[in-house]
Amino acid sequence: MRPRKIIIDTDPGQDDAVAILLALASPELEVMGITAVAGNVPLPLTAKNARIVCELAGRPDIKVFAGCDAPLARKLVTAEHVHGKTGLDGPILPDPRMPLQGAHAVDFLIETLRAEAPGCVTLCPIGPLTNIATAFRRAPDIAQRVQEIVLMGGAYFEVGNITPAAEFNIYVDPEAAEIVFASGAPITVMPLDVTHKALTTRARIDAFRALGTEPGRMVAEWTDFFERFDIAKYGSEGAPLHDSCVIAWLLQPDLFSGRRINVEIETTGTYSTGMTVADWWGVSGRPANALFIGDIDADGFYRLLTERIARL
Ligand code: BDR
Ligand code: CA
Repeated sequence: MRPRKIIIDTDPGQDDAVAILLALASPELEVMGITAVAGNVPLPLTAKNARIVCELAGRPDIKVFAGCDAPLARKLVTAEHVHGKTGLDGPILPDPRMPLQGAHAVDFLIETLRAEAPGCVTLCPIGPLTNIATAFRRAPDIAQRVQEIVLMGGAYFEVGNITPAAEFNIYVDPEAAEIVFASGAPITVMPLDVTHKALTTRARIDAFRALGTEPGRMVAEWTDFFERFDIAKYGSEGAPLHDSCVIAWLLQPDLFSGRRINVEIETTGTYSTGMTVADWWGVSGRPANALFIGDIDADGFYRLLTERIARL
């Protein structure tokens, strides 16, 4: 079978970094490009971090593009309190040598979706949706050409992680999320409801370290850093590797289950801006616009992740 063509839109972030490694380690996927967006840290750092991760995977040939440096209509909110000053705090990593592409990420998204046959490119946004929404706004024809959008964002039963109501990626740019959820493109959502079931444990982190490779060691050290925040906040045993759920879905969808439902984005709430209003019980009468994932086989997910990182 031909590999599935994907574009990863990202704001690395340690869990973004693991997701990128998982994709680059998987022959079922062809990473056409990586588009960086402002989110966990400002754009210059996310564009740099994406290249650090490609080099760590031994893939300096991957095209990395810088995209939007601020949300559509708001001031950027970042998450250094979770990811550290660099976004990839934990291990010391060398500056990347591979170049950043000259084109803007939004132009790359538009040109690629127009150049490929309809239904052949899957978008994997794992940060705020600013790049994707800007591309859809500038080139409304491309939404129908997307095979699928598989995104990490939102929450329903688990509610918020950055405010009581909102998950970080959607909260940072709710206007962008609104455009994407109204685009008509097929959408699969990995909300906190599922990512909070994909927690690291000591044994799972040790398994990465025991691979004895540089990528294995980096994944262990990133998660060591990243989990201190979640352990303190939630009292959980470890941290969720949120963004890897997006890539794992493409590789092994039978690890997940969810419902096709209507999801709307709150953009004007007093306390609830950035909330994904997910009609899990089908009470609104509004048409379904997304597959909202609710459950994961966490052991299977970590088995897949460890087996793939071992290949790098
Ligand atoms: C999301 O926000 C970021 O901090 C993570 O990388 C993930 O994409 C989780 O809310
Ligand atoms: Ca992210």
